[in-house]
Amino acid sequence: MAKSASKKSSKSASRSTRSASKSAPLRVGIIGTSFMGRAHSNAWANAPHFFDLRRPVVMEAASGRNGQQTCRFAEQWGWRTSTTDWREIVASADIDLVDVCTPNHLHAEMSIAALDAGKHVSCEKPLAGTLDDARAMRDAAAKAKRKGVRSFVWFNYRRVPALAFAHQLVAKGRLGTIHHVRANYLQDWGHPDTPLVWRFDSKQAGSGAHGDLNAHIIDLARFLTGDEVTEVVGAVEETFVTRRRIVEEARVAIKGGAGRSKGKAAPKMGRSTVDDAVLFLARFKGGAVASFEASRLATGNLNRNMIELNGDKGSIRFDFERMNELQWWDHTIEPGLRGWSRIMCTEAEHHPYVHAYWPAAHGLGYEHGFVSEVADIVNMLGGGEPEVPMPDFADAFETQRVLEAAVLSARERGPIALSQVK
Ligand SMILES: NC(=O)c1ccc[n+]([C@@H]2O[C@H](COP(=O)([O-])OP(=O)(O)OC[C@H]3O[C@@H](n4cnc5c(N)ncnc54)[C@H](O)[C@@H]3O)[C@@H](O)[C@H]2O)c1
Repeated sequence: MAKSASKKSSKSASRSTRSASKSAPLRVGIIGTSFMGRAHSNAWANAPHFFDLRRPVVMEAASGRNGQQTCRFAEQWGWRTSTTDWREIVASADIDLVDVCTPNHLHAEMSIAALDAGKHVSCEKPLAGTLDDARAMRDAAAKAKRKGVRSFVWFNYRRVPALAFAHQLVAKGRLGTIHHVRANYLQDWGHPDTPLVWRFDSKQAGSGAHGDLNAHIIDLARFLTGDEVTEVVGAVEETFVTRRRIVEEARVAIKGGAGRSKGKAAPKMGRSTVDDAVLFLARFKGGAVASFEASRLATGNLNRNMIELNGDKGSIRFDFERMNELQWWDHTIEPGLRGWSRIMCTEAEHHPYVHAYWPAAHGLGYEHGFVSEVADIVNMLGGGEPEVPMPDFADAFETQRVLEAAVLSARERGPIALSQVK
């Protein structure tokens, strides 16, 4: 640890969190220092610049696995201390919130330890790699909530202004009765060149494209419609690339550029134990039918997180590759004038979160969703409300149930009622 963040016991830590006033500084410890570690660090550092937060943020400690790298990471992003032992973060009396940015199989152990120590937890998605882990996390969060401890999940796309605005349009009834939800999240970095990073190991990831990408669009579909999936009618699960190069440690988290074999020696290969793609059909309680598709081998689609809702009064369509825009069809206007319109969701007076950033049409990027999520988390812990609903562990568990139902449906080759998945 660069400077010790762990001098006091977890018992006194839990007392200090619970007794913290709603305007006291929020002292944050982060676990994980790579892709999400960077995205979250940027958000913790910048939310206080863009938003008037109810509490100041203190970036107290960062935890990674390699001492030197973690120390450098802490210096670069503004964390006061660093450690290679995440348990020090959880036990520290100087930390009020633990931010979990590690591979999926570690979410449960880290989050539950933090909640039990009286710390608020913000955990990356999917909630966990397995339904059992997710259930244990939901239960630990429910127990902690009774003592005033909160949980949050980084379904960051909810805070893209166009999607937050779409949520508001649906809530106001502007789409009428929703008949269709059409969602796909397509990437193409999973070609055979990509080494066997943790994302291809079911023990660490739980699943492949499914938990990684379908988790996002299931959450978005639930968030936008305000409705719940009642049945997965059918599903397909496929692993196209079954063997991949083993690398010591992939430097680049999700891309194939890292750890390429040098020289002529045949690379050592290992088995991928997750899906590369999962597609499924579902029904919502309110009567809508839905299709979901996630793939890491959808060549030409770099990060196509796309969702469309069709209602009897209108439709919306969103594609993250054009994240500042929302497509809108108003079916209530005069026939002949109807058509898709492109709304630039960059107007502070009309579109959520934009007020904190730039003038109209000075677009936002990927990182702003995380910055806005930090703002909502800090304000909620200061007694305020988020601009749009924030998922906690109980909410993310519902998304995990849908993920599980889809896997069961694919493997059993039949429909799965959500009531069967508990
Ligand atoms: N919200 C999003 O859009 C989004 C995007 C990418 C990833 N994620 C999620 O974020 C999580 C992390 O993914 P990532 O892309 O950052 O992965 P990554 O491989 O880039 O980083 C994982 C980090 O965890 C650290 N780590 C692993 N074991 C550790 C341990 N025992 N103690 C401390 N640190 C440990 C690694 O050193 C690394 O810094 C995953 O759950 C993933 O699904 C979410």
